Amino acid sequence: MATRTQSRSTNRSSTSRSSEGESRSRSSANRSAFSWGDNAGPLFGAALAGAAIGIAANFGRKALMQGFEAQAGDWDEILANEHDMALGLFDKMLATDETQTFKRKMLLMKLTHALDKHAHAEEMIVYPALREANEAGDADGLESEHGYVKTYLYELSQMDPDASNWLEKVREFRDLVSEHAHMEEEQVFPRFKREMSGEQNDKITGLVNRDGFWMS
Ligand SMILES: [Fe+2]
Ligand SMILES: [Fe+2]
Repeated sequence: MATRTQSRSTNRSSTSRSSEGESRSRSSANRSAFSWGDNAGPLFGAALAGAAIGIAANFGRKALMQGFEAQAGDWDEILANEHDMALGLFDKMLATDETQTFKRKMLLMKLTHALDKHAHAEEMIVYPALREANEAGDADGLESEHGYVKTYLYELSQMDPDASNWLEKVREFRDLVSEHAHMEEEQVFPRFKREMSGEQNDKITGLVNRDGFWMS
């Protein structure tokens, strides 16, 4: 508990430091680079319009690709499907040999994206909801394992894809992800789901769907 309190107060002080810094930089900006002239209005408006078009185009692309359709199933089923997809990518990686360096790089890119998207939904929605339900121990343990997932991704990104220990590293990484996924699917998520109301279940499912939409 002491650590959590400490880290909260550290966050608070760093926030106030950064807002001081912000106001300092805002006031110096007013004096220099961002001192817009009288004619800056239309220019600024055009830049904003451009940004809005860019955002709308990206939104349109996503809507077109996914048709705003929610994924099938509840939040825990969506996440379990993503576990299976990631483990399937690991299996494809393990079926390569050292001559297939391009394929190895492509599969690593896909895996990185899949795990990043998956971890985002868990870290932004499911684990905070677990903490809210007094299951902070589970949430903190699982979130710390995500740190090791990122460490494996980093290490693999630094390795030559034809390195003699590439497959061994992928195998170790798969074991970690598989164990983590089993813990979620067989223990933490079912327990959490049993405790929640139908309304909360629908809410978490909606949030996980929305997060997946923006992260894809
Ligand atoms: Fe996880
Ligand atoms: Fe997961």
